[in-house]
Formats: sequence, C-alpha cells, structure tokens
Amino acid sequence: MPPTLAHTPIMVLNGPNLNLLGQRQPEIYGSDTLADVEALCVKAAAAHGATVDFRQSNHEGELIDWIHEARLHHVGIVINPAAYTHTSVALLDALNACDGLPVVEVHISNVHRREEFRHRSYVSLRADGVIAGCGVQGYAFAVERVATLAGA
Ligand code: DQA
Repeated sequence: MPPTLAHTPIMVLNGPNLNLLGQRQPEIYGSDTLADVEALCVKAAAAHGATVDFRQSNHEGELIDWIHEARLHHVGIVINPAAYTHTSVALLDALNACDGLPVVEVHISNVHRREEFRHRSYVSLRADGVIAGCGVQGYAFAVERVATLAGA
C-alpha cells in the first residue's frame, strides 16, 4: 500500500543550534522556542489531515541517518539544515537518495540579506521549494507545501 498522509508522517528536521531557538540571537531568529515551532508544524499538518515527526540534531551524521529513515518511512521532508545548509555535500547526497520524496527547505531568517557565505545552499540543489525570511511561520508554509506535494 503506498504511504498516505493519514498514516505516514512528514519528517521535520532541524540542524545545529536550533535547540537554542528563543535564546539564540533573538534579534535574528525571534523569541519562539523549538517547542513552539513543533506546535506550529503539528497544527499546519493537522489542517491537511497529516502528522509530523519533528526532530533536531547538532550532528550532521544523525541528520543524514534521519533522512535515510524518511526515505522509507515518511511522506516528505521539511528541513532547516541551519549552518549545514552552506557546507554539507553529505546532506545534499542523502536528500538526492530520496527519489520522488517532496523536500522543502526552510530558513527562519532571510539568508540572502545576511553574510555572503549564507547565500549558497547545497540543500537547495535538491529542494522542491525554499522558504526564507518568513520567521518561524515559514515552517507552517513548508509543512503545507509538503502536504500538498504529498497529495493531501
Ligand atoms: C538558518 C540560517 C543559517 O544560515 C544559520 O546557520 C542557522 C539558521 C535560519 O533558519 O535562518 O543556523 O538556517
């Protein structure tokens, strides 16, 4: 039986330092915590009859293992790769191994208005959509988009 949104969650992955959301550079990332973001994603998914599997890691390898898991057990991926966005060919390769799986990249801040090294994203080479600069609301947009692409 093919995976359906009702039975199979959307994987929402968060990269390094996002566990400190709300405390870390609030002038850039705002005052909401990662728990607030998870609640936002749960609500956005529910509107599409979907669920989320929400995770954060400070370790590149763990994020890669979770992408491999999503490849088989999730209907799509929302990912804020944080600093790994700009450095990780390994994350790109893992996402490239997820044939046909909807992937939306999200950044809380507008990375294009920041330092030049943040303008390049390896993940964008695979992402079906990219959302940046919408604050944490961008996660809700990303979940909605993955739900749509996954066939809700
Ligand atoms: C970020 C932007 C990245 O450049 C940065 O390294 C982060 C967060 C964002 O959500 O705006 O950690 O992905």
